[in-house]
Amino acid sequence: MMNNKNILLCVTGGIAVYKAVALVSKLSQAGANVKVVMTDSAREFVQPLTFQVMSRNDVYTDTFDEKDSRVIAHIDLADWADLIIVAPATANVIGKLANGIADDMVTTILLATEADVWIAPAMNVHMYSHPAVVRNIERLHLDGYHFIEPSEGFLACGYVGKGRLEEPERITELVSQHFNERQNLPLKGKKVVITAGPTRERIDPVRYLTNFSSGKMGYSMAAAAQKLGAETVLVSGPVELPVPAGVKVIRVESAADMYEAVLGEYQDASMVVKSAAVADYRPKAIHDQKMKKQEGDDVLELERTTDILKSLGDRKEHQLLVGFAAETNDVIAYGQKKLDSKNLDYIIVNDVTDPEGGFGSDTNVVTLLSRQGEVIPFTAMPKEQLALQLFETIIQQEGGNLNDR
Ligand code: PMT
Repeated sequence: MMNNKNILLCVTGGIAVYKAVALVSKLSQAGANVKVVMTDSAREFVQPLTFQVMSRNDVYTDTFDEKDSRVIAHIDLADWADLIIVAPATANVIGKLANGIADDMVTTILLATEADVWIAPAMNVHMYSHPAVVRNIERLHLDGYHFIEPSEGFLACGYVGKGRLEEPERITELVSQHFNERQNLPLKGKKVVITAGPTRERIDPVRYLTNFSSGKMGYSMAAAAQKLGAETVLVSGPVELPVPAGVKVIRVESAADMYEAVLGEYQDASMVVKSAAVADYRPKAIHDQKMKKQEGDDVLELERTTDILKSLGDRKEHQLLVGFAAETNDVIAYGQKKLDSKNLDYIIVNDVTDPEGGFGSDTNVVTLLSRQGEVIPFTAMPKEQLALQLFETIIQQEGGNLNDR
């Protein structure tokens, strides 16, 4: 299943570099095209020539060593890769990536790529549990990186514990499974844009207007789209949730930011799902200084934000447009009205007063309304499960795929 898949292996400096040599061999035997990038420290353990021979490709070590004058090497490699594996990943490279540092060939590629990045740490057991490393790994989980956990056992430093690079055979198996699963998925080759979370509308440097959206529904929709094979772009308001692995995230704050971000991704999208709870109003003026309290009441003047979904509906071409409606009464009637007025294909209506659904909860209860007049209720279930069922139902309604989108 790895035939013609381009895998870029980033090798950083730890004793487990010798296992990376075996990994190149296993991936190549499975049919992948493998290219290798090494840090200076990795080269202290194994010579680039070893990787060159195993991969039958040039090995890249220096950002300024441009082997082909027609391209810029680190961008070219970042774009070439279907998947990037960092193995072994040291505490150092994890720390740099978590903090956006790009000071060598490996880290510049990691910041420049849009491919999935899998990180396979290997280090001393105490380094692996150091608070800084734990913090950096958590940060990278939040940024959507996928980790191949180190295994437990005898470590080169003499300790026994967690920190061994996962075996090359197992990594190859995981990579193979990943490509297998993505082969025949219904959203393969389709770009799906999903919005999630609340927006924040600033009043002054210390205050803003917002709502209770936690982002759980939108992030679950993004995870489901990704699972079904889509190239998934998540436009997220301010929430602290881990980004599902492989999903590209664009972080925004206000309704205006979200409008810009969604519009920028709209043209080549097959489907847009607007799960975000976007502010309908924002303060007419944002004060540069903190507003001082004064005697008596005050009035905050508000103005309308742009209705993002309606703007998408107005300029809809091939895109399938799916909205959410948060209602407290007459939910189906109000949902129907939004479906029509915003020129949507589907709307997912939730009664946000339902104790089993709505804002912040782990479960939701919704009804899917279609442009064709279908009314499909879904019972209460975890948002992750619901998201998958919603996508599957919509795809089924569309005839099994989104080929004409
Ligand atoms: O995030 P959670 O805590 O998991 O909660 C999930 C949820 C309740 C937020 C979610 O299920 C939901 O209902 N999202 C839509 C909330 C909402 O803003 O509904 P609305 O009825 O006000 O808006 C209708 C649609 O228009 C929505 O798709 C909304 O994204 C969109 N809209 C609204 C206003 C605006 N200015 N621009 C928009 O695009």
